[in-house]
Amino acid sequence: MNTAVSDIEVIKAKKTKIHDVDFDHLSFGSTFSDHMLECNYKDGKWQAPKVVPYQPITLDPSAKIFHYGQSVFEGMKAYKDAKNDIYLFRPLDNWKRLNISSKRLAIPEVPESYFMEGLKTLLKLDSEWIPKKEGSSLYIRPFIFATGKGFHASPANEYKFIIACAPSGAYFAGKVKVLIEETYSRSANGGVGFAKAGGNYAGQFYPTQLAVEKGYQQVIWTDDNTHEYIEEAGAMNIFIRINDTLITGPTSDRILDGITRKSIIELAKAEGIAVEVRKISVHEVVAAAKNGSLKEMFGAGTAAVISPISGFGYHGEDFDIPELENTYASLMKKRITDIQTNKCEDPFGWRF
Ligand code: COI
Repeated sequence: MNTAVSDIEVIKAKKTKIHDVDFDHLSFGSTFSDHMLECNYKDGKWQAPKVVPYQPITLDPSAKIFHYGQSVFEGMKAYKDAKNDIYLFRPLDNWKRLNISSKRLAIPEVPESYFMEGLKTLLKLDSEWIPKKEGSSLYIRPFIFATGKGFHASPANEYKFIIACAPSGAYFAGKVKVLIEETYSRSANGGVGFAKAGGNYAGQFYPTQLAVEKGYQQVIWTDDNTHEYIEEAGAMNIFIRINDTLITGPTSDRILDGITRKSIIELAKAEGIAVEVRKISVHEVVAAAKNGSLKEMFGAGTAAVISPISGFGYHGEDFDIPELENTYASLMKKRITDIQTNKCEDPFGWRF
């Protein structure tokens, strides 16, 4: 199924909201651009995508999203360089992962041309919404949810695919203190942890609230079986530096195949940093914190890019990670954002 940009119907907003936005003080994901892409699945196929004014959606109270949580999403960013050219970062990987997530939730897969041409049409129309200020970008949220009606617990027969955009600043301000989770789990073998399913995030909110009440900002997820192995950092992948080696857990049923995660693995290797993709136990991290070999921990994801962790709590004890001058976190953040914003060569072919 091939769709060209010229095939996509565009209904323009009557009035822009852009003058209401303070681009110098953007928060994350809370103001939305003038348009969105909308595409409906019915009669067994995705209908032609359209770009329409950003607007509320009306749904039947029995729509299956409300009852059975059939929903998946992606996170992407658009950047502008000094010449006002617009860039995306590895967008085809987002399209592929959206479909991997959809498949697991029995949601029909979206054709590449609908995703890519729809996104290009939307970004051309809302190009003024892409911030130029360093540290800001247009956060892009493609998502699909079940609109089909009925209380029968089975996949819906109708869905909506939307791409909405939010000019955004930093996701977290400063360093984050985390609690290593010993009771709750984010995911399990055979489950949906590898997918960007809405419910994966809903399930994190309560344990995270408990951690916040204890003075931490985020939870470090451990494996559901033993709680002995480190898996993810809140809604992000996690990296741990012990001495000069950067370690991250292998992807699995339980760990998201993060695009920032896999880019950092390649970038770090290209910098000559020793990278190990292997299981890392809480015991190893606690021992490293005690003997001074734990140099850094950071979360990695599209929204926050890299989020340094200042310390962690485990089993009633708090461990600080002393500040270093030159961190892998800051080096990796610079390398990845320079590629994303067209400030350097892109030997990997990630910029689009
Ligand atoms: C992202 O990093 O884009 C994510 O998906 C995290 C999100 C929950 C804000």
